[in-house]
This record gives sequence, structure tokens and C-alpha cells, in this order.
Amino acid sequence: MKSQAPLLRPRIFRPTPLNLNRLAGRLKRGEIIGVPSETVYGLAADALNPEACMRIFAAKKRPTTDPLIVHLASRYDIDTVAHVNEAALALAEAFWPGPLTLVLPKKNIVPLIVTAGRRTVAVRVPDHALFRKLIRLSKCPLAAPSANPFGYISPTSAVHVRDSLIGSGLRAILDGGDCSVGVESTIVDLSNPDKPRLLRPGGIEAEKIEMVLKRKLSRPSYKSISAAKSAPAPGMLSRHYSPRTKLILHTSLHPQDVMHMTVNEVCLLLSKPSAQVNKLLKPDTKKQLRWLSESGRMNDIAKNLFSTLRKLDEENWSVIHACLVPGLEGLAPAINDRLKRASAKA
Ligand code: TXA
Ligand code: MG
Repeated sequence: MKSQAPLLRPRIFRPTPLNLNRLAGRLKRGEIIGVPSETVYGLAADALNPEACMRIFAAKKRPTTDPLIVHLASRYDIDTVAHVNEAALALAEAFWPGPLTLVLPKKNIVPLIVTAGRRTVAVRVPDHALFRKLIRLSKCPLAAPSANPFGYISPTSAVHVRDSLIGSGLRAILDGGDCSVGVESTIVDLSNPDKPRLLRPGGIEAEKIEMVLKRKLSRPSYKSISAAKSAPAPGMLSRHYSPRTKLILHTSLHPQDVMHMTVNEVCLLLSKPSAQVNKLLKPDTKKQLRWLSESGRMNDIAKNLFSTLRKLDEENWSVIHACLVPGLEGLAPAINDRLKRASAKA
């Protein structure tokens, strides 16, 4: 009988100067590398090398119809890959480096595999010094989607990337610690600057973007997206970021609700139950309670969302009950968007 080759587990590299130089060299030679960012970890390749970019799609099992974001080291590099306009320059100045991606008409230098055949390219400057350092050292813009298998929960640590991409062809990940934002960048389509569109809510609040642009962003509805011949952001697929465990969403969820659940269901609260409520609960039922933050701070909820869903997904619960964030302010739209897609049926 033929013995199977063991599945290669990607190696995590500490961010020493030597390792950064090595990984930059490997990127330059066409390899894919797991990279840290402030939002989620990315799976990076030389954006100007079509074969290297093809490896990203293969490792993630991502359809080649879903375009990649191109990452730059500085906002002053934007015109190397995109045709800029005033609105784009204003947003780049206000929010880069940071969790904002701009969709603009592409320059010819960007291979069609990166943009999935589109005439537009998505660009951003990440707010993570190690990621920017790697772009500078490799001397190429880096195309990078989130480093998760297509459709699964996005990774917010190097270990998440390693554990979900074993045997994918990925060999190396740069460790940059836990992601500080925890949800992906906000995507704004400025290819027609007279009609700016919000394609994905994310780490920068839409209201802040509207303040800089001095106009409202249009928000395409999910219905219009699925009806469109080609979706404006294919990542807006209704099911995405999903745990394997069934996820049920609630508009409100209280620690006491756990008493109405069976023993293999877990209740994911937005904040830690108060000492008073804690006293009312039986020790057994307390094991079924988890929370996304100590005090309900929105930034903490976003930061912990994907890592907590991953943890729960590994624990063999039959159902995860989670709660939507109230209101439409701040990061609420981004958090609720990820929760809704994570719970959507295929
Ligand atoms: O925070 C982030 O944006 C992370 C980090 C690694 O930068 N990246 C990320 O990439 O979330 P990804 O591929 O998981 O999501 C990017 C989204 C996809 O939904 C893709 O369809 C959309 O951006 N996109 C890319 N290029 C586009 C384009 N030219 N027009 C419209 N949407 C585009
Ligand atoms: Mg993604």
C-alpha cells in the first residue's frame, strides 16, 4: 500500500530582522506567506506575479471570481497600482494606514487574476508595522485576502492561520501577535467618485468616511447584490465567516436564557454577566456561558469575535446562540454583518 505524505504544517516565524528578510525573499520568489494585519491575518503574495497570486486561490480553495486586495507600504504608492481621484486621496490621507480599502480603476501593471478580470482594483495600507515592513523589504505590493479557508471564520492570530491551512501549500507565517481590530477593513468603491458606495462595513465606521467625503455613501442591499450580474464585492456572499457548528442569532440574550437550553448548547453574550446575575445561576449552567467582552465595549467585541467563534467551534457544542449588537453606530454594522453571514444557510 502506498503511504500518504504527511500534510505540511506551516511554520510560524518570529518577527526578527533576519526572519523578515528571509520571508521577503520568499515572497519575491513567488511563495505565499501568512502575514499579520490590524484587521485579520492575510495570505500574501507578490501582487504583480500572477503565478504567485494563483497560489493564494489554491491554498484558500477560493474561486478565482473573487478579487484580492492589494496592500501597499505607503499611501504615496497608491498611483503605482490605481488611477486616483480627489476623494480617494482625501480618504487615504485621513485613514491610512488603517482598516479602509478603496476600490479604484486599476492600472495595467496589476494582473487580471488579482482583480478577477475587473477593471478596478481594491487597495489598502495596513496599520501593522510588520506587514508594511515586509512590503518594503519584498519591494512589491502584496495581494492578500484573509488567511482562512474559503467561507470559514477569519483568523486573528498566527496559530489560527497555521491550524486551518495545514496541507494547503502555505509554508510560512509571520507572527505579529493578535489582531487589534479583529474585523476586516471597510470597503468603499470610489471607481465613480460621484457615487461612492460602501461595499463592506468594517474597521472604520461609515459615518467617519462620510464626514471626510462630505457626502453619503450608498449602501447596496444584499438583494441588489445577489441580483446583479457580477457582484460588486463577491465576499458579500450571504454565507461567509462561518463556524461548522450551527449558529443561532438573537436580538437580545440574557445569562438566564441558558436555563432554557439543552446541556450541549452554548450562549455567547456580548459582555460578562454581573456578579448579581452570576449568583442566580447554577454552577452547571455557568459552563454554557461565554462572553465577547468584559464590559460590552464595541472594540473588544470586534477584537474577540472571530477568535471566540473559533474556540467554540472546536468545543463540540451542538448550537452556538449569539447576540447581535444593538444600534447602528460605530462597529455595530461590521460586527452584525459578520454574525449574520456566519449564521446564514448555504
Ligand atoms: O481587512 C482586510 O480587508 C483583510 C486584510 C488581510 O487586509 N483582507 C480581506 O480580504 O478581508 P478578503 O479577500 O477576505 O476580502 C476582500 C473583499 C472581497 O469580498 C473581495 O470580493 C473584495 O474585497 N474586492 C476585492 N477587489 C475588489 C474589486 N476590485 N471590486 C470590488 N470588490 C473587491
Ligand atoms: Mg475574507
